[in-house]
Amino acid sequence: MSLFPAGIAFGEAFCNRVEERTRLKKHIDNLRHTVLIAPRRYGKSSLIRQVMEDNQCIYVWIDFLSVTNQGDVEAKIKKACKELLFKLAPELKKLQMQTTELVKSVSPELNLNALGQTLTLHFDTDESIAIDEMLLQIDEYAFKKGKRAVIVCDEFQQISQIADCEPAEALIRHAVERAQAITYIFSGSNRHLLSEMFSNSHRPLYRLCQAMMLERIAASEYVKFLQAAALKQWQQSLSENVIQQVTSLTECHPFYVNGLCSELWQADTPPTAAEQVEQVWARYIEMNKSIIVAEYISLPLNQKRLITVLAQAPTDAPFGAEFGLRTKIPSSSTRRALDSLLEKDIVFVDADGYYRLLDPAVKYYVQ
Ligand SMILES: Nc1ncnc2c1ncn2[C@@H]1O[C@H](COP(=O)(O)OP(=O)(O)O)[C@@H](O)[C@H]1O
Ligand SMILES: [Mg+2]
Repeated sequence: MSLFPAGIAFGEAFCNRVEERTRLKKHIDNLRHTVLIAPRRYGKSSLIRQVMEDNQCIYVWIDFLSVTNQGDVEAKIKKACKELLFKLAPELKKLQMQTTELVKSVSPELNLNALGQTLTLHFDTDESIAIDEMLLQIDEYAFKKGKRAVIVCDEFQQISQIADCEPAEALIRHAVERAQAITYIFSGSNRHLLSEMFSNSHRPLYRLCQAMMLERIAASEYVKFLQAAALKQWQQSLSENVIQQVTSLTECHPFYVNGLCSELWQADTPPTAAEQVEQVWARYIEMNKSIIVAEYISLPLNQKRLITVLAQAPTDAPFGAEFGLRTKIPSSSTRRALDSLLEKDIVFVDADGYYRLLDPAVKYYVQ
């Protein structure tokens, strides 16, 4: 595996997150269902996967990205329940392999009975069993077996995008709040949709979970991580200037740290000057320009204007006269445009109250 993957970071590609790993593990142990919230590409999926593997959890991963209707949601959940059942009772899988022909017509309910289990499970997907019932049955099965498990619901915001999503959300709530052995982790790439699902008192999932916010990885952690990676690759450490340039151009955004470093680490020798790092960054952005600017170019003019001005200098007073002079947009329009940019996670407010661009590559591109 590459040290700087574009997809999920795992094992030696995984940097730090020590506190978050400990915290998520505690949530799992204490059956505290969790919604992990962060802008896209901050490392939510990577963190969950790492915690699952670190602790050898029995888990299933449901990716809701492609769901377009209630039937899709149901099918995904039922498939995951079956998978989880086989993980909780590997002997069933063996039995299924020995009796492939039989299993085509026999439901896991009979398999379980054949093993002397008294619990009844209906797992034929065409059966009309509701998803909450299925989730509760598998939970009860795990509980009776004295096992614990995790169901990861990734890209979960997609459920809120299907027509008439409330019944599915209500069934999920019904199962989650009664769980005795399964901890649920929800995550997704649209943090505003996701927050809305779990914190709006009119929605079925209101206050079901403990929210966990994921920030960027601290620069000090990246310094240690990148030095170790440099030693591994070139048997040399990097100069302070070089490392500082990496963390400052990428602003410690995990996706861009990996994007830039996967380019840098391809060279036969380590970069020795900050300018060299910037050249590689400029080339990386040029190569990926179409992806980086895809969202930007479709934005209304006022939003683009705000992006350009914020790229030059962030502000803590976006409705003040000085910022208005820079944008040449009336403050009522600024408010609308800014709300929209915040909602799309293009702009964020930092700990000091400054409005900044979230994506360092967009920032570099428009400057
Ligand atoms: N802890 C980490 N260490 C190193 N790279 C990471 C870490 N977390 C995420 N990344 C990298 O950041 C990018 C986004 O990660 P991902 O887990 O897919 O984010 P999300 O699920 O929040 O969209 C990927 O390139 C991934 O390899
Ligand atoms: Mg993800």
